[in-house]
Amino acid sequence: MRQKGQTITATISDVGDGDKCYAKLSDGMSAFIRGALAIGDTVEATIRKTKSSYIEADFAKLLSPSPLRVEPRCEVFGVCGGCKWQHLNYDAQLQQKNKQVLDALARIGGFRDVQLLQPIGATRLYHYRNKVDFSLSNRRYLLPSELDAPQKPMNFALGFHAPERYDKVIDIERCHIAPEEANVALQVVRAFALTRGLSIYDADRHDGFLRNLVARKAFRTNETMVNLVTSWHDRDLMNALLAELQSALGERLTTFVNNVSTKKNTVAFGEEEFVVFGKGFITERLGGYSFNISANSFFQTNTEQAERLYDVALSFAQLSGRETVYDLYCGTGSISIFVSRHCQKVLGIELVESAVRDAEANAKQNGATNCAFKQLDLMRFETIRPELERFGLPDVVITDPPRAGMHPKAVQTLLALAPKRIVYVSCNPASLARDGKLFCASGKYRLVKAQAVDMFPHTNHIESVALFETT
Ligand SMILES: C[S@@+](CC[C@H](N)C(=O)[O-])C[C@H]1O[C@@H](n2cnc3c(N)ncnc32)[C@H](O)[C@@H]1O
Repeated sequence: MRQKGQTITATISDVGDGDKCYAKLSDGMSAFIRGALAIGDTVEATIRKTKSSYIEADFAKLLSPSPLRVEPRCEVFGVCGGCKWQHLNYDAQLQQKNKQVLDALARIGGFRDVQLLQPIGATRLYHYRNKVDFSLSNRRYLLPSELDAPQKPMNFALGFHAPERYDKVIDIERCHIAPEEANVALQVVRAFALTRGLSIYDADRHDGFLRNLVARKAFRTNETMVNLVTSWHDRDLMNALLAELQSALGERLTTFVNNVSTKKNTVAFGEEEFVVFGKGFITERLGGYSFNISANSFFQTNTEQAERLYDVALSFAQLSGRETVYDLYCGTGSISIFVSRHCQKVLGIELVESAVRDAEANAKQNGATNCAFKQLDLMRFETIRPELERFGLPDVVITDPPRAGMHPKAVQTLLALAPKRIVYVSCNPASLARDGKLFCASGKYRLVKAQAVDMFPHTNHIESVALFETT
């Protein structure tokens, strides 16, 4: 009988989408082992829980490393929840991500024999993110290496939240998937805050000044935006910080904004925005179009891969030039504009008002006169049916919801609109599989094909596109 606290030896045969790995023990018992492991690793693990058909354990010691392993670059690998797979070679990461899509489609969606095209890997493996969101906290998360002797003050941290800790932040020197400009801004803001003794927002006490630091870079135009999120606006202080940022970043800093939030949360989103310097947005180019991106608007975080993702969506949509297309969850309208040359007209629908304003400006500046945008919570999609009829019902719907997927009411409205094709772009294979199952359960659609596009090397996240067609 195995018991809690006992040590087991196991060889990992599968890794899940988090840090839960799988092994079959010598007596046939299944073991789920928590840790940053690779298929082929032989490890010692300590049993945490026993059940009749499986056990759960925590990684303790690496006995023999898998050939898929590489040395992680990051100083806080294994502590920071971001790049969970930096210890795997890139090919292994990509295969693992592709398998995630296939598994979710089969397990959650019930889709067998899916035509899953070759995954599209990234070429830029580090410093690829065009947006990084750092947090400030007055409670620093201690690294395992310094548990006995903390090496830095405990009441200041600028970096990323420790996994599942809204209150504690890992103080980092740099992020290897962030653009260099973001790392420079990180150092500038840290020095500025510490030398001036600025207070840090405390979500429990709901007081303090500094909340988040967000940096965005437009890779194709070299424009950088810094957005400091604070609890109130102090113009003199912001001008002083601007001088420091300009001295470190030079002309690369094209805009600096201060978002002010009075909410009792740690989200990097202000109710009010003060443009301290520049236009208040940056301009990025994608597929020959240019896009204005303001601080609170969604834009795909990997510019190069976004272009590949949109190419896949466009090819799955099979547009002839005559179609009415809906782009649901359209953000700043990038998919709408990207497909606009290939169809008759596009209606983009989005919740966030500033994103809709950006989408309208983006369509105008790209001469995409056949695009219209509507601000709407897609949970209320059914309420605008008459408006949709006036615009024209869709031949093709492209839908790109957030991680949680589509609201069931939005799915029902979409099905009632009966487009010939639905192209589902997803950053969460489980949501894609769940919603795809609803499309097909209606009997009106079938899953034709899917393809994974890796937007986030070293993380366990994968983007995918699926085509559903009327039966
Ligand atoms: C994954 S992003 C897709 C953005 C866009 N398609 C792109 O490629 O840039 C999801 C978008 O859905 C929007 N959104 C979230 N919930 C929504 C809702 N209930 N109704 C409408 N839009 C929503 C978000 O603001 C965000 O812009």
